[in-house]
Amino acid sequence: MTTPITPVFVETDLDSLATNEGRVVVFVPEDGRLTIPVRRVNRLMKGAVARFVASDAFARLKPGEACDLAWPVGMMAEAVQVVRLERRFDMEACRKAGAAIGAAGAGKPVLVLAGNQRGVDDIALGATLRAYDFTDHKTDSENAAKKPGQLTFAVTRMDEVEGMDKAVSALAEGVFFTRDLINEPSNVLTTTEFAARLEALAKLGVKVKTLDEPELEKLGMRTLLSVGHGSRSPSKVVIMEWMGGEKGVAPLALVGKGVVFDAGGISLKPAGGMEDMTMDMGGAGTVAGVMKTLALRAAKANVVAIVGLVENMPDGQATRPGDVVRSMKGDSVEVINTDAEGRLVLCDVMWHVQEAYKPAGMIDLATLTGAIVIGLGHENAGVFSNDNALCNGFLKAAENEGEGAWRMPLGAAYDKKLKSRIADMKNVGGRDAGAITAAQFLQRFVKDDTPWIHLDIAGVALVKTNTTLAPKGATGWGVLALNRLVANRFEG
Ligand code: BES
Ligand code: MN
Ligand code: ZN
Repeated sequence: MTTPITPVFVETDLDSLATNEGRVVVFVPEDGRLTIPVRRVNRLMKGAVARFVASDAFARLKPGEACDLAWPVGMMAEAVQVVRLERRFDMEACRKAGAAIGAAGAGKPVLVLAGNQRGVDDIALGATLRAYDFTDHKTDSENAAKKPGQLTFAVTRMDEVEGMDKAVSALAEGVFFTRDLINEPSNVLTTTEFAARLEALAKLGVKVKTLDEPELEKLGMRTLLSVGHGSRSPSKVVIMEWMGGEKGVAPLALVGKGVVFDAGGISLKPAGGMEDMTMDMGGAGTVAGVMKTLALRAAKANVVAIVGLVENMPDGQATRPGDVVRSMKGDSVEVINTDAEGRLVLCDVMWHVQEAYKPAGMIDLATLTGAIVIGLGHENAGVFSNDNALCNGFLKAAENEGEGAWRMPLGAAYDKKLKSRIADMKNVGGRDAGAITAAQFLQRFVKDDTPWIHLDIAGVALVKTNTTLAPKGATGWGVLALNRLVANRFEG
């Protein structure tokens, strides 16, 4: 488990600056004006900060970017990091500045001279999120030693930062939970282990219930069960309730695809890149992170999450191409390709959550198609919806959080491609518009009066390069946006 650093806020003590060990961070705006604490550092360093600020190197820094002045004279610190940042609030720049602090400071105590800088919460969040490092399976001491150090913000007015440490932690804990789940290999994160990690949310006040195979059979979740037939790991559905809102108010439902490994089943995937399919539980992992954040910040909203945990493997017992299975809703599905398994999992859990909770809205998240990666790359998740108000609310929340999201179309013409000769529908619609026909499949399991969003996160859940707020690997995409959507639209 990766634990985020909890930022500590203290009153500025200029006299201890000379003897402070570790890293010291200062903010300087474009015009080069030095605030009081920065002037003190500059004096200790015999004018080196001012000389740097007057240089081309400083002029080249973009908002939120930083440069290290290493082993400064006159100080015990090992580096003074100068971050270019305006005092007025710009969330993107603040998070980027934080990320520069977090990326450079892993493993060392960091003292940030924030003074009365605006957006300290976003700076702290950026630093915390970017300091993430998944080292659970690294043995050597060098990596063990890289565990995050202390992150201290010296501020002018303590009343302005009251509660910020907890607020930042609630977000970071949720994002880290998601990233750990997605980064975890499939021999560790089996369906059983995944369910156990979700059950641990009970100690935060989340009501968690796990349904096992006999119960799923009884409910009629036959399409979900058909995906797990080839696996030694038992299929499970986990339901998490956070009812922090008013009694009787219909909840928002979050639904997650939790394929702990997707080998493709009998329609086996090619070997190249198959190892990435350890992240095919990204939808479920994201939903779990959102629930953790909601619980930690005691959100005044009713939210129910449901995840389908299965493993898609080839085996003598596995579902065959051409098999026909019946969904919980009652529709029959001809399984043309066993690698289009996500929709078979989602359709049953979506149906169940609508029957059991009559939600005010439903948002499913899934690493559903390679086609969305071809269409949108790793910059944007695909957004499909039957409800403009909910959809626009989500798009706004995602934009505010800097999480890429792009709306895609739905339509009857696409839906036609799912016609089956022998069953009510097929599970694939052909190569073209693959992300859209997948969404059309899901929409058949959305009740007409349920506002619904489908998020295809195949391209954004895990990326191979560093991003602003995460090192390469799982990003935690969606936790911040969904948390914000809940705050904006579902909290009284
Ligand atoms: N889990 C995959 C989709 C995926 C691809 C996720 C790349 C993350 C990165 C999904 O189950 C799948 O295999 N989809 C098929 C569907 C096809 C058989 C209709 C695909 O996209 O190729
Ligand atoms: Mn698949
Ligand atoms: Zn899959």
